[in-house]
Amino acid sequence: DKGGWPSFMAKEISEEPDAVANTLRGRIDADGQVVIPELNGLDELFVDINRIVVIACGTAAYAGQTAKYALEKWAGIPVDVELSHEFRYREPVITPQTLVVSISQSGETMDTLMAVKYASEKGAKTLSICNTQGATIPRESDAVVYTHAGPEVAVASTKAFVAQITALYLFALHLARVRGAQPADVLAEQSAELLAVPAKIATILDESDVVEQLAHWMSDSRAVLFLGRHVGFPIALEGALKLKELAYIHAEGFAAGELKHGPIALIEPGQPVFVVVPSPRGSAMLHSKVVSNIQEIRARGARIIAIAEEGDAAVLPFADTVIRIPLAAPLFEPLLAVIPLQIFAMELAIAKGLDVDQPRNLAKSVTVE
Ligand code: F6R
Repeated sequence: DKGGWPSFMAKEISEEPDAVANTLRGRIDADGQVVIPELNGLDELFVDINRIVVIACGTAAYAGQTAKYALEKWAGIPVDVELSHEFRYREPVITPQTLVVSISQSGETMDTLMAVKYASEKGAKTLSICNTQGATIPRESDAVVYTHAGPEVAVASTKAFVAQITALYLFALHLARVRGAQPADVLAEQSAELLAVPAKIATILDESDVVEQLAHWMSDSRAVLFLGRHVGFPIALEGALKLKELAYIHAEGFAAGELKHGPIALIEPGQPVFVVVPSPRGSAMLHSKVVSNIQEIRARGARIIAIAEEGDAAVLPFADTVIRIPLAAPLFEPLLAVIPLQIFAMELAIAKGLDVDQPRNLAKSVTVE
């Protein structure tokens, strides 16, 4: 049931504040400490580990790439993020001190399931981040943290993605507490940031007219590029994936720092480039580097669409369009910056007359290899 929305995708995007809020519910105590009830009594899975390997496919893998920054910063453990199908077909070094975290909305993706089984056989501890109660991957894992996004019907993932990042951040904070990696007040600050996310997403949804108009203006684009840096990098990749899947437009995401190492050769007059701009309050240096990237490509004729926080005036002279997101601590920006990119891809697909819920050639759950 689309509940009055024109598509499941529109409905699911509108449910993103709830997807995050429901994933947080019951997992942050009165002191702002993350205590995940499903992980009660399972501390021994996490105390001895010296490495985390995240395995997933597609959008779920980008949620993992985003969470790597938080896991390393808060829990102080090295994290590798791998595509399940690449992980499976080499001989990855997995030991009993490795925690393999799989991410899967459906819990049935065959490559991810087989990677989890392989990791278990090698003695690794396994944790599943999953949106589907009782699915195969959580059943094959030592522990599970469910995302509570509710059923996702549209083939392209939207609300599950923000719920996955939320669950992974909760897990990172849980892990940091269990391992004594951070003082309680630092952890409580991050919980407060998480709790503030749903209302911020709701603000973005209320102010999405700019994005809708932009998508209509850009409906004959042949290629669109996405740049990001730090946690903005996986968001650039996700923005590009959404546009490929929904609007069948060639799209690529790059780490902004890579521009000079090749991708800048693609810039010609009129080339649209989305840039996820990091907050100047998080790192003035990263912010100014991305602003110089914008200047460099603008000088070569790129059409810049900047996604920047409220009040960031540095982008104004160089951007053709600025999409604003509410202020948030740097690690939380992905949960906001991805929303306009999802809406953009959906609206552009609608402008082209495409079926946004069921893009060609794709299946919701990839249960074959
Ligand atoms: C993209 C998308 C896919 C899935 C991927 C993993 O919009 O939906 O890339 O994210 O197939 O699926 P799950 O999470 O079910 O393992």
